[in-house]
Amino acid sequence: MKLNIAVLSGDGIGPEIVDQALKVVRAISKKFGHEVSTEEGLVGATAIDKVGDPYPESTHEICMEADAVLFGAIGDPKFDNDPTAKVRPEQGLLRMRKQLGLYANLRPVTTFPSLLHKSPLRKELVEGADFLCLRELTGGIYFGDKGRTEDNQGAFDHCVYTREEIARILHLAYKFALQRDKRVTVVDKANVLETSRLWREEAQKIEKEYPEVETDYMFVDNAAMQIIQWPKKFDVMVTENMFGDILTDEASVITGSLGLLPSASVGTHTSVFEPIHGSYPQAAGKDIANPVATILSAAMMFETAFELKEEGALIRKAVLASMDAGVVTEDIDKEKACKTSEVGDWIANYVLEA
Ligand SMILES: NC(=O)c1ccc[n+]([C@@H]2O[C@H](COP(=O)([O-])OP(=O)(O)OC[C@H]3O[C@@H](n4cnc5c(N)ncnc54)[C@H](O)[C@@H]3O)[C@@H](O)[C@H]2O)c1
Repeated sequence: MKLNIAVLSGDGIGPEIVDQALKVVRAISKKFGHEVSTEEGLVGATAIDKVGDPYPESTHEICMEADAVLFGAIGDPKFDNDPTAKVRPEQGLLRMRKQLGLYANLRPVTTFPSLLHKSPLRKELVEGADFLCLRELTGGIYFGDKGRTEDNQGAFDHCVYTREEIARILHLAYKFALQRDKRVTVVDKANVLETSRLWREEAQKIEKEYPEVETDYMFVDNAAMQIIQWPKKFDVMVTENMFGDILTDEASVITGSLGLLPSASVGTHTSVFEPIHGSYPQAAGKDIANPVATILSAAMMFETAFELKEEGALIRKAVLASMDAGVVTEDIDKEKACKTSEVGDWIANYVLEA
């Protein structure tokens, strides 16, 4: 099969971790006889520095023409520390999501048997935790009108959702639930927010279309607590943009490191596969960041964008084997830490020799 992949490495550790994922993509493609072609696009702070735009039109065209996008991370301290900057790397990410119609971010949260001791939570709480969080990605407060009051003494961010935006991601959540344990938790703040009340109203209608799925509703503050108290109780969680952003970072502690969690963003055009973490600028260029989240994002790319389940499964098996063999970066084992590139090489070799 021909696999046309747009590669958007971005900033900070982006290029290093994407390189490792590409090693694995090439290895698995060689093993299964696929032909990979990649095209690189500028994004984030790097794109601002080079062309003054965090998501240039040329990058959008590359994404639109590809079968899938492999994305690293964006973000640079020089922008984080300058609240007055008019052009910001994050605008590129938001624009990419909007222009590609990526309305759902799928974030699986699972544990790795050989890393259970890494979780700050007790082993018996996290062992076997396995849930899928669907975060709405193109609406809500991140996309609403924002600005300052005329006298600059106040600021506002509007949170807006339409019924259509809510319904399409809810249907997706139910579709995933049907392939899993048939349970959906809708997370909102319907006791306070009008947008959340609209979410709940829509969800109460849509749940009737999926009678075989059990639905429950949870306020986001309660969900934040339950994720770390009883992570095993969840199967599919669906929520709006900002709640999902925060809850999934929280959920990463179940796994043990932010460097382990992959994601897929799907919608109306090309899907994007990216780790959930950011550009971890402190580690940029040091060959120390964990590439596993990006490598597992590549596994999701094979499974979701190319519908090549066997290839995805072999990548997952190779990742587990690397952990069992102690081939891990410093966030997992400080004393016996391997380099980012060593982990990538090991996993790619495992795939080739499997
Ligand atoms: N999707 C994205 O591109 C994205 C997401 C979040 C943050 N950001 C941006 O990234 C920059 C840094 O933000 P931040 O520090 O809040 O978040 P971050 O995810 O980059 O890093 C937070 C911490 O998580 C750990 N971590 C993250 N990735 C890791 C990896 N691969 N291996 C090992 N440890 C890892 C590190 O301890 C790090 O200090 C900011 O500019 C922010 O805007 C981008």
